[in-house]
Amino acid sequence: MNDKALLAVSFGTSVPGAEAAIANMENALRAACPDRVFRRAYTSRIICRKLAREGWPVLSPEEALEELAAAGVRDVLVQPTHLTPGDEYDKLCRIAEGYRGRFSALRIGAPLITGPEDLNAVADAVLAHYPPQAGRALLLMGHGSGHIANMIYPALQTAFRLKGADYVLVGTVEGWPAFSDCLDQLRQGAWNSVELAPLMLVAGDHALNDMAGDEPDSWKSRLENAGFSVCCRTEGVGMWDEICALGCSHLRRTEEA
Ligand code: CO
Repeated sequence: MNDKALLAVSFGTSVPGAEAAIANMENALRAACPDRVFRRAYTSRIICRKLAREGWPVLSPEEALEELAAAGVRDVLVQPTHLTPGDEYDKLCRIAEGYRGRFSALRIGAPLITGPEDLNAVADAVLAHYPPQAGRALLLMGHGSGHIANMIYPALQTAFRLKGADYVLVGTVEGWPAFSDCLDQLRQGAWNSVELAPLMLVAGDHALNDMAGDEPDSWKSRLENAGFSVCCRTEGVGMWDEICALGCSHLRRTEEA
């Protein structure tokens, strides 16, 4: 076996069809390191357990690193596909730390958004995929959390503002700004319709239910109740070439470091 490996680590998804966005990113990473054995891992234990029950097992980072060490791999590049260096990334770093002695080199790439160039690249990609339309605002649903890395979402909002893209709002499901903050902004604007889109690698459970679902507390329902006409995009940003290129640029930086 080749003694060099690339381990692409994603949060994971159990939504059928949504996995394509992870696979798309993985294919790009894999093509950027053709000399390395490729492995996939997911950081979400809940998703790994669910997929195993359904007959589609995906390794956890621990399992993948254990397997690579056992197979005689000496040099591992770990590239996360997480958008921010939040809790899942911290968890991945802690896990990898425990395997450091098992390899001669174990390097971890940065998540997709870790600096101003990344923010601008993501903002440009969003503007290319969701260009402005008369009377319509674009509300992005980021994940968000209580982690300090949540600051990336308001920073991304600033990137849009600096580009003059005032039709774009960045909200989060579990962090700040919250949906209610965005709704206040939309009410103050002159918009009559809102396009909703996930700012997540994968259009999984949050995008399909919390954003675009028919339940009364979904973002779509709450916007409709507020008098907006709503259209929902349900494509994970992992499907976009620009986002794959961002992942590859982080991978290259780690490989050359
Ligand atoms: Co979540």
